Amino acid sequence: MPKKDVFGSVMDSIRERTAKIGIIGLGYVGLPIMLRFCEEGFKVLGFDIDPAKVEDLNNGKSYIRHLPSERIAKLVKGKDPLFTATSDMDRLSEPDVLIICVPTPLSDKREPDLSYVENTSKEIARRLRPGQLVSLESTTYPGTTDDILMPLFTAGGMKAGKDFFLVFSPEREDPGRVDFNTQTTPKIVGGVTKKCLKAGCELYSKIVDRVVPVSSTSVAEMSKLLENIYRCVNIAMVNELKVLCDRMGIDIWEVIEASKTKPFGFQPFYPGPGLGGHCIPIDPFYLTWKAREYNFSTRFIELAGEINSNMPHYVVQKVTEALNDEGKSLRGSSVMVLGIAYKKDVDDMRESPSLELIKLLKGKGAKVDFNDPHIPYAVSPRKGFRMRSTPLTKENISKYDCVLISTNHSAYDYTWIVKNSKLVVDTRNATAGIKGNKIVKA
Ligand SMILES: NC(=O)c1ccc[n+]([C@@H]2O[C@H](COP(=O)([O-])OP(=O)(O)OC[C@H]3O[C@@H](n4cnc5c(N)ncnc54)[C@H](O)[C@@H]3O)[C@@H](O)[C@H]2O)c1
Repeated sequence: MPKKDVFGSVMDSIRERTAKIGIIGLGYVGLPIMLRFCEEGFKVLGFDIDPAKVEDLNNGKSYIRHLPSERIAKLVKGKDPLFTATSDMDRLSEPDVLIICVPTPLSDKREPDLSYVENTSKEIARRLRPGQLVSLESTTYPGTTDDILMPLFTAGGMKAGKDFFLVFSPEREDPGRVDFNTQTTPKIVGGVTKKCLKAGCELYSKIVDRVVPVSSTSVAEMSKLLENIYRCVNIAMVNELKVLCDRMGIDIWEVIEASKTKPFGFQPFYPGPGLGGHCIPIDPFYLTWKAREYNFSTRFIELAGEINSNMPHYVVQKVTEALNDEGKSLRGSSVMVLGIAYKKDVDDMRESPSLELIKLLKGKGAKVDFNDPHIPYAVSPRKGFRMRSTPLTKENISKYDCVLISTNHSAYDYTWIVKNSKLVVDTRNATAGIKGNKIVKA
């Protein structure tokens, strides 16, 4: 019998589900992927540099609110568990597939910080063995897979598409979303060679209903940025229109509800106190940075960034005016910020506009507390505070000069909030339909 080539073995092991999956970075993206592979009967070895996360996972404990511990606990049970977590990077040679889900933030100078991706890739390169398939899922600028990962992986003489396989497959995780999940969200895959693409498509076809192959890793990288830039720009547009509508005495929320009845050519976006989360405020600037190499200025992205990052200032202005109408100044007033998560019903406060709002309000001399049912403790070294969530009670809420709704968590009873507060400033239209002459939309 002729010896099977490396490619044939990889394809077979994926088809037969004997391929061992390694996932590097066990956060908001890595954990749902791990769960999907385990659901499909694959064995998964998870890697994370945070020993506390590794310990939690091996004890069957989740640290992400929308992923209940029970789902993890049943995978780590027994002598031969489906899932194990580790911090030992020497074990990177064990899995047949390595999926990279590490952070891609911006540096202090708002430039791409690819150090996590680079460090992980160097760890992999040191141990890369024939037959391994590597997939980068972290959001990044076009060219990253070709320019950063490829040289590291080929330095030892191995060839992509022959000895090992390399793809980029952007993540579309949307924490808190209930109408789509990891399985039902189509997944884009771009490979550095045709065989890489084939192996990548085979892999993801095991966990998602639809795989969308594209012609290169750069197309796959750019497609993710297009999706996020589309959101960032449209949110900025509607935020700008909100400020104009406010001046014109028009309710932007009613306008959106009206426009959204158009059955084609319109998708609603909603205004808010600013942009938050790990993706939308950050990823577009990966492209802005890359575009400079081509002497190109990404004006839509820059303008959207400017408008969105001004929104917290607008909200503080509205709070100041609302207090002024009550004969009070912001300095010395007490403000309760409701919701520190960047969006409703999640426990993630990365880049949350609430953090900036708290900083600005404190900077102007207000006494600020926050409440968030999902985040008991908030530390923001960049904004210079650490605070504990203040419980909401009838006596408590009525003492504040202003209650500012920053995140519209479903857990809040907005009728109760309006009834028991002196003044409510609402940035999310959470009080729609509730009567009260002390509600100010911002
Ligand atoms: N959160 C989302 O909704 C979302 C959606 C789509 C894409 N993304 C992208 O996915 C990537 C990961 O985002 P996330 O939200 O899961 O981040 P996260 O911070 O929740 O998780 C990343 C994990 O990687 C670990 N880590 C960091 N460096 C490591 C290393 N060298 N080796 C092993 N582990 C390491 C961290 O400890 C952390 O647990 C980013 O590029 C992000 O832009 C995120």
